[in-house]
Amino acid sequence: MGDRTLNCNTSSEWKPEFKYDFDPISSDDEIVTVDLGGTPIQCLKNGDALQPLVQMARVVPDYRKHIPSIRNMEMDDDDVIICAFAKSGTHWLWEITSMLGSGKADYHGKEKNSTMLELIPAEVLRSTPKPRIYNTHFTPQGLPMHVFDRKCKILFLQRNPKDVLVSYLPYLQGHKLIDSEIKWDEFICKYMELEVESSLLNWFYYTIQWFEFLKEGHGNIYCLAYEDLKDDPVREITKLAKFLEVGENSDLFKDIAEKCSFQNLKQAALSKIDTFAINNKEAAKKFTNFTYRKGEVGDWKNYFTVAVNEKFDALYAKKMKGIDFKYRYSL
Ligand code: A3P
Repeated sequence: MGDRTLNCNTSSEWKPEFKYDFDPISSDDEIVTVDLGGTPIQCLKNGDALQPLVQMARVVPDYRKHIPSIRNMEMDDDDVIICAFAKSGTHWLWEITSMLGSGKADYHGKEKNSTMLELIPAEVLRSTPKPRIYNTHFTPQGLPMHVFDRKCKILFLQRNPKDVLVSYLPYLQGHKLIDSEIKWDEFICKYMELEVESSLLNWFYYTIQWFEFLKEGHGNIYCLAYEDLKDDPVREITKLAKFLEVGENSDLFKDIAEKCSFQNLKQAALSKIDTFAINNKEAAKKFTNFTYRKGEVGDWKNYFTVAVNEKFDALYAKKMKGIDFKYRYSL
């Protein structure tokens, strides 16, 4: 066990605004250490929700109180929750869904994280104006319990794991969860050894949890894939609109697809940096640049060597036995 104190050193590039109280770590808390290369990350564990004990921990609420309050949060029938593993296109789908909800191809005034279950206190989430489009990287066990006794809709977004992981390394480094010197080859090798049950960190764990849940046959869940959205955004937006019961409007759907193209959305996101949860414009700009990095299907081919690819495929076959979903790795 390493240092149990919270490391909240501020760098010149990122001075987090410490909005939330964080109680001292006690012997009742479960701390896990995750090694993805370089300095291992210490995390506070609540179920499968991990709160890394780094600077970022103080810009989000203390999970020991926050997770139970999200579980008990009220939900309305017309609330929507987007569920996706990190780097699966959550920002993209959130903006599309917000536009469908408002019936206008206008960008949401705030950044996606303004409605993220992991980051925002339940009372603030409940006071956001309708249509409420929440988003989360939680597995089903972390969702508000009322999701299942109200008629609210869940969108489950997936992306092929190879592109997810290529996108994930700069994200983890940008949030200082992994040392910036760690190279892709080291990261992917460590990642393939990861066993921790974490909704945020472990794609295999997250995805299996969701498929097990889907097998139980819950209603009001719509599954969609990043690659399909990329392949034909208007077709996918039209299908999504039907699920959301927002009416047929092909001109609007075309406008939304155009407004939410990679380049347009990136530009729009850069204009929202004032609404970021962090009080540093330069850092917010950096975050936006790695959030909207390339927006392509198949970038993994530029990173996975033949040997790593074979190892990953073998691991996938072993871990995902019994799951017959077919990811698209190229278009
Ligand atoms: P890359 O890093 O591969 O470019 P999330 O929103 O879940 O964090 O996912 C981020 C990923 O979605 C990034 O992938 C990002 O570029 C991609 N993305 C965001 N907006 C997009 C868009 N409009 N079209 C295609 N990809 C988009």
